[in-house]
Amino acid sequence: MLNVEEIRKDFPLLQNDPDLIYFDNGATTLKPQCVIDAVNKYNAYTSVNVERGDYDLSFEVSNLYENTREVVRRFINASKKEEIVYTSGATASLNMIAFGLKHEINKDDIILITLAEHASNVLPWFSIAKEKGAKVDYIKTFANGAIDIDDLKLKMNDHVKVVSIAAVGNVLGYVQDINTIGKVVHQYNCYFIVDGAQSVPHIKTDVIKDDIDFLAFSAHKMCGPTGMGIIYGKYQLLQRLEPLIYGGGANARFDCDMNVILKDVPHVFEAGTPNIAGVLGLNAAICYLEKIGIDNINEYEEYLKKYMIDKLSKLDNIIIYNPDSTSGIVSFNAKDVFAQDAGSFLNTKHVAIRTGNHCAKMLHNIIGTNESIRASLYFYNTTDEIDRFVEACKDINIDNCLNIFF
Ligand code: ALA
Repeated sequence: MLNVEEIRKDFPLLQNDPDLIYFDNGATTLKPQCVIDAVNKYNAYTSVNVERGDYDLSFEVSNLYENTREVVRRFINASKKEEIVYTSGATASLNMIAFGLKHEINKDDIILITLAEHASNVLPWFSIAKEKGAKVDYIKTFANGAIDIDDLKLKMNDHVKVVSIAAVGNVLGYVQDINTIGKVVHQYNCYFIVDGAQSVPHIKTDVIKDDIDFLAFSAHKMCGPTGMGIIYGKYQLLQRLEPLIYGGGANARFDCDMNVILKDVPHVFEAGTPNIAGVLGLNAAICYLEKIGIDNINEYEEYLKKYMIDKLSKLDNIIIYNPDSTSGIVSFNAKDVFAQDAGSFLNTKHVAIRTGNHCAKMLHNIIGTNESIRASLYFYNTTDEIDRFVEACKDINIDNCLNIFF
């Protein structure tokens, strides 16, 4: 079991505000001191551009910047560091993958997603499907969010060009059987794209074992800085992706006859001055998570989640939508109370939590409600916080919620 009391000392925000119960880790996570230090050190002492300067400081920062690809490679078990592309976040990554593949998607092709996907893994595909005359179809999921593998098998055929799914949904938190799904998808000439925003920070990711073609995730959901994300792509598939942004750093040369020679993967996708502080912060975040151990993190979150479900399910006023998911996400509502009013009430009890549709605006087709309250846990949360949270949940009712406003 993790020594959570010690771990919490690494997080200035938790030390500064011991009453806060931060259960919004699905939206973003808190930053440990080592990540803050890495970002500050860059801004204070080594604040120069990368891959452009002929001086020592620029070489030093460029090395750190490039070596971070190796740290990310190790974390997700990619084959080589050139398979790691820096982006501004998981949303940018998913857009760059989708629009980078647009030239391979034709009329009547099929793009398979699920009704549980986050907007970032829906809207790029809608846009491409509308433009190219392709079709978006939905793999059936069960009420707990698990993908129905039999339905996937039925829907796969030679017209399916893309299967793009979240490894862990951001509302129901079900951990998909990515390995089996990948095997089904790869029986066809089809891209297997995984949104890892809610999985990479919490469970061991192995892109080789799971035969993932493209993976998208962000730094800020794993203790790193905001504005920083990753595309992993198999090297030969990254070669097929068209860049969306052109400019300095991504081209080898061009001339006045419009001849352009682009740089190789991954630099071809990184035009412009990158988020250098973000890259160095991500490096520190991954090293921090590795020190704690991703399997330890996963095991502890499962323990916390079971503890929370056990306590919450005893309350008559609470409806839980995902009692058997294995991640640290618990989605629920209080009977007869609008989710956002419940969130405002919980705020008065020092609980930070997300309510609403969580950007998964088709999920109501599966769980029958547009709005829910989402508690999303991370390894620095405690059973004591859950006890205080459950006490607060007992009091969510219309009268108490109205009292906040009047
Ligand atoms: N995608 C993030 C969430 O689910 C912001 O809250």
